[in-house]
Amino acid sequence: WLSGDKEPEKRENFTSQLGFILVTVSSAVGLGNIWRFSYITGVNGGGAFLLIYMLCVLFVAMPIMIAEFSIGRKGKMSPVGSFKKLAPDKRYWIIPGILSVLTPLIIMIYYPVVSGWALGYVFESIFNWGPITSDPSTAFSVFSAAPTSILFTAAALIMTAGVLLGGVTKGIEKSSKILMPVLFLLLLILVLRSLTLPGSFEGVKFLFVPDFTKLTLRGVLDALGHSFYSLSLGMGIIITYASYMKKETDLPKATASIITLDTAVALLSGLAIFPAVFALGINPAEGAGLAFITLPGAFAQIPAGQFFSITFFLLLFIAALTSMISIMQIPLSFLEEEYKMKKKTALMLITAFLIIAGVPAALSFGPMSDVLIFGNTFFDATDKFVNIVLLPITGLLCTLFVIFHLGIKNSKQIFMEGAENQNSILGKIYPFSIRYIAPIAIVLIMLNGFGFFN
Ligand code: PHE
Repeated sequence: WLSGDKEPEKRENFTSQLGFILVTVSSAVGLGNIWRFSYITGVNGGGAFLLIYMLCVLFVAMPIMIAEFSIGRKGKMSPVGSFKKLAPDKRYWIIPGILSVLTPLIIMIYYPVVSGWALGYVFESIFNWGPITSDPSTAFSVFSAAPTSILFTAAALIMTAGVLLGGVTKGIEKSSKILMPVLFLLLLILVLRSLTLPGSFEGVKFLFVPDFTKLTLRGVLDALGHSFYSLSLGMGIIITYASYMKKETDLPKATASIITLDTAVALLSGLAIFPAVFALGINPAEGAGLAFITLPGAFAQIPAGQFFSITFFLLLFIAALTSMISIMQIPLSFLEEEYKMKKKTALMLITAFLIIAGVPAALSFGPMSDVLIFGNTFFDATDKFVNIVLLPITGLLCTLFVIFHLGIKNSKQIFMEGAENQNSILGKIYPFSIRYIAPIAIVLIMLNGFGFFN
């Protein structure tokens, strides 16, 4: 029985395994890794923040990813359906399911704005190359303050809906198999250039030498939230993907690849951005524009930089698009499944809502910059609400669901099903980290971050 029928099964296993990793990675790798990671690392003072971020990825986000995988694999439905099915008699467990559907809608109020910037920077690199490289800071302020932001935002949303409607999601995913390695390569070129600029070493120190005096309790909360954000946790994405995956998927292997790739892209973009930040004399705590201010500056120092810049921002936009496709799928499936809505109607509804809701976010850097919600612009308020409130809470609820309802042993078994290496280290540390580390860390970090212990 050994060789006869084992071989083909294995090959098939490999293809589906790769496909599964690919779609999950294309959801995880997005603006979060390049734009958001660099901007909040800069605001939070660099090295110490990075260290806490990595700890959060390993000890909090990873177990929660495993928990979400097991919920989706067992529930075999969208988040709301999965929680309902796994806990038919305890209706309150539907709460994390509902949050998983709501969070994508809130993320999509402001994420397309930044996707729009990436798209806009393709054009800026073509038509405005001089200004965006000679005074990148002013160029970004002017660009992001202009009401044309609304158009770029709407374009990003309409393209996302178009891909979902045309059923070409598969095509996009296939092409991202080629495009994402190109983005990776471009990042590598940028890293090399950035590291060889005079004065760049300060940036390396900033990123890798922890200075704990610069880290605040809010910074720790930022690190926690970003670990969920970057890995697409708490947004229903992982649960949904797990519900679709083939039975023989090797989840421990997939989890390790997804986390490694996602973190690698973040680190590379940090290494592309911070050395250039210091070499070009830009303020690391610049805020949401950091990547858009620094990268054109670094490209300008490369032969054929304009060409590379155009390509880079185009690929960044595609990375954002693949993330938006994955996240828009969540409310879409919800409306299709729960309300039996037609795909076209549901997509039109969602897109119209998001275009309207996106207007104040798009204008937050210009005409509406002084309209404040608890001291934040509309853009910042939505980003913060998602990252420091919604994602940690949904993560915590998933943890509690596994501990008190699904059962840790059961959850681990579901995760390990089909794994080639039954002694995977991920499986070994999961029970302890999901029971003790993740929930306690989330509660403590949230309470501290909101100042309950001050
Ligand atoms: N992981 C994504 C990123 O890093 C987060 C995200 C996913 C945001 C899907 C929006 C949509 O960009």
